[in-house]
Amino acid sequence: MKLALITGASAGIGKLIAYHFAEDGINLAIVARREDKLQEVKKEIEDKYTIDVLIIVADLASAEGPTSVFEKLKDHEVTHLVNNAGFGTNGIFWEMDRKTELQQIGLNIAALTELTHLFLPQMVKRNAGHVLNIASTAAFQPGPYMSVYYATKAYVLAFSEGLSGELSETNVWVSVHCPGATRTEFAAVAGIENKLLFKAGSASAEAVAKHAYEAMKRGKVVSIHGIGNALMAFSIRFTPRFIVRMLTKTINK
Ligand SMILES: NC(=O)c1ccc[n+]([C@@H]2O[C@H](COP(=O)([O-])OP(=O)(O)OC[C@H]3O[C@@H](n4cnc5c(N)ncnc54)[C@H](OP(=O)(O)O)[C@@H]3O)[C@@H](O)[C@H]2O)c1
Repeated sequence: MKLALITGASAGIGKLIAYHFAEDGINLAIVARREDKLQEVKKEIEDKYTIDVLIIVADLASAEGPTSVFEKLKDHEVTHLVNNAGFGTNGIFWEMDRKTELQQIGLNIAALTELTHLFLPQMVKRNAGHVLNIASTAAFQPGPYMSVYYATKAYVLAFSEGLSGELSETNVWVSVHCPGATRTEFAAVAGIENKLLFKAGSASAEAVAKHAYEAMKRGKVVSIHGIGNALMAFSIRFTPRFIVRMLTKTINK
């Protein structure tokens, strides 16, 4: 079966991106840890659209997570890979739980890289396919008190743009979408609901998912949700790094 694989589709942006694929008649494989949430998404989508949704329960932060997903899909043709699953932490780096920090790198960086490495060869062989990676506006600058998270998203942005360059003579596309603060479970997981960034106003997950999906369909390599976020990402290029660090420190404190 031809399908789009979406990680982190049990909630938030990933779940809503799944609806856009379903609307376009594309079958889905959805991955996350919470099976009950995945079952809900599957039922909602299959009740509304004439597509099939496969559920894959996996902890992508674990060493065997990405390969277990690949194994389960070996009889299918993955036309789209959406690396969306990710989480953040907030606090003083050396005081935070080391295991959680490493899991963050495992999910945001290692799983995204491994899944791309597993599924890209078949896309290149068919000379067709699309990888959509979800980074963040955090990718454009360092982020004191969320140092690991910002650094993981800088990796996602640079990795995606690098790959896009490697694939420029093919019909395989890599897009990276950078949302700003968005109303999902993300802020609660990271413990940042009361931070300036989220108090100052955040986007709806619906708007972000729509933007990411449409930018991917247009073949846009880098897309940023919201004019304010785009201006911020642009202006950082002309701002001294020490000022950027001061600003993000104030925002994240
Ligand atoms: N919300 C924001 O403000 C914001 C801003 C910029 C970028 N982003 C990025 O957008 C992406 C989606 O986040 P979101 O805002 O939609 O957050 P969310 O509502 O917390 O959703 C995260 C998704 O990732 C899954 N996930 C988490 N850990 C996982 C693991 N170890 N293995 C497999 N799946 C896992 C979760 O499912 P389970 O818990 O069921 O596993 C859930 O489906 C992330 O990459 C995030 O960094 C978010």
